[in-house]
Amino acid sequence: MNEQKRTTHYSNFPESYWLSTPIPHFPTLTEDIQTEIGIIGGGIVGIMTAYLLAKARKQVTLIEANELLSGVTGHTTAKISAQHGLIYDELIRIFGADAAQLYYEANNEGRELIKETAQNLKIECELETKDAVVFATSDKYVKQIEKEARAYERLGIDGVLAYGQVDELPFPVEATITMRGQAQFHPVQFLASVLEEIEHLGGRIYENSRALELSKDDTIVHIENGAQLACDKVVVATHYPFNDFNGLYFSKLAISRSYALAAKVDAPIPQAMYLSAESPSRSLRSIPNVDGEEWLLIGGDDHDTGKSRTPTQAHYNNLEAFGRTWFGLQEVPYHWSAQDMSTLDKVPYIGQMTTSSSDIFVATGFNKWGMAMGALSAQLLSDLILEKPNPYADLFGPTRSKLKVKDVQQFMKKNTSVAKDLVATKTQRPQMTPDELNFDEGGLVLVNGKKAGGYRDVDGQLHLVNTTCTHLGCGLRWNNAERSWDCACHGSRFSYTGDVIDGPAVKPLERLEEELQD
Ligand SMILES: Cc1cc2nc3c(=O)[nH]c(=O)nc-3n(C[C@H](O)[C@H](O)[C@H](O)COP(=O)(O)OP(=O)(O)OC[C@H]3O[C@@H](n4cnc5c(N)ncnc54)[C@H](O)[C@@H]3O)c2cc1C
Ligand code: FES
Repeated sequence: MNEQKRTTHYSNFPESYWLSTPIPHFPTLTEDIQTEIGIIGGGIVGIMTAYLLAKARKQVTLIEANELLSGVTGHTTAKISAQHGLIYDELIRIFGADAAQLYYEANNEGRELIKETAQNLKIECELETKDAVVFATSDKYVKQIEKEARAYERLGIDGVLAYGQVDELPFPVEATITMRGQAQFHPVQFLASVLEEIEHLGGRIYENSRALELSKDDTIVHIENGAQLACDKVVVATHYPFNDFNGLYFSKLAISRSYALAAKVDAPIPQAMYLSAESPSRSLRSIPNVDGEEWLLIGGDDHDTGKSRTPTQAHYNNLEAFGRTWFGLQEVPYHWSAQDMSTLDKVPYIGQMTTSSSDIFVATGFNKWGMAMGALSAQLLSDLILEKPNPYADLFGPTRSKLKVKDVQQFMKKNTSVAKDLVATKTQRPQMTPDELNFDEGGLVLVNGKKAGGYRDVDGQLHLVNTTCTHLGCGLRWNNAERSWDCACHGSRFSYTGDVIDGPAVKPLERLEEELQD
């Protein structure tokens, strides 16, 4: 697809359209308390797990490091779909047809749980049934789509293969595979209401309460401000697990960022949910009812976190160019980005976190498909905690042993790349002094002979931080679109003032203004 390139510099900071909706707020946990189930992380996984367990009359306590829903769930595309790109042919090859079928059914169950919850709690969240479509624009991917269609047929998935142009898409398409009966929604409207229901059911919720440590032996969660949450059982729903124990999660997860625009466009807005088979990825869905108007959500342009080949701003520009070329894009009221992890075999880790503790649970590695999967995780985790049977426990079990040889190879490969990255970023020499930083510009700078991460804000104030990641010590890279310091090793991100934005890091960067500017 030939797209018009024009570089726009967004002077405003990224902001998610979903988060422009009101969200209830809760206090910080400041005293030591005890609970039956402690849930760490206030995204779709944590909130839905808290809801199901509170409904089952368990005493639940949910803690969130920042504001609720400020993580990936507040920055998603919010398609509730079992069509995860072209995955079923691969799943059959890795796990066999029965397991691939279970994967499909698990996602359907997750989607139905969201629908039932919205219906039972009478939540207005723009939940609409939609078809999900992967489109190919090249011969190579037509073949992939044909293979996927054969996998659909084998698994009895309700879908259809078609060749040629799609009426509601303005660019040339060679082939499509459609999965019928999927859905889209407004995730924040939905989960904000679920939060209210958790409170109504007697659950306790705390914001700005970051878990620093979780001791395996006594399941006590140590909060940043010194408070402790003593739990019978704990769910780690922090997206990237902030604690690793010996689970080797840090070497079993690959992390990728992608970008989204909520755009006002002149052209008709496609009504199905679309995803390109080719890279760079392009994801499309409608956003209904924005002050009576319909907008187009354009997503994609993925790259490994902390490893963009171009300044990150270029990814927003690429999506905008696509929108302008094909949809007559007029205005971009919101733009945002986020990251998600994939596991070695593309199937999330949901269940008991390590074999040595039956009281600690995790759900992670959704490969950018954590809406239906997030709801399914809540169902699976609450069944495990309530000691009820669940048909998906083995498929998603984090300690599963499929792909053993490949696991080891990936482990080595990943660790080599992490080690390389560590050296590469550590030895980078700054090219600038802070005086050379323009307003709203950041990068590595040399101050009094020492290296620091500098950002001069829009008011001209200089912020200096130590760019050694507080997780395991890799060097950080400047992200000019988000104005953040990003780590390529495991995806931690920090604001220009050093605060943690994304884990697994839990400690802020050291601030260097006083030390270096004296
Ligand atoms: C750009 C993009 C588009 C996507 N689009 C789709 C889509 O269309 N459909 C789909 O199914 N999926 C999609 N996904 C994936 C989906 O959004 C995620 O998989 C899902 O939101 C993850 O939910 P979560 O609850 O695990 O994580 P989060 O929503 O990130 O929640 C984790 C929470 O834990 C908190 N936390 C972290 N560390 C700590 C700590 N130490 N103490 C306390 N709290 C902590 C965080 O602040 C955060 O609020 C997309 C992902 C991306 C990146
Ligand atoms: S070293 Fe692990 S995220 Fe930075």
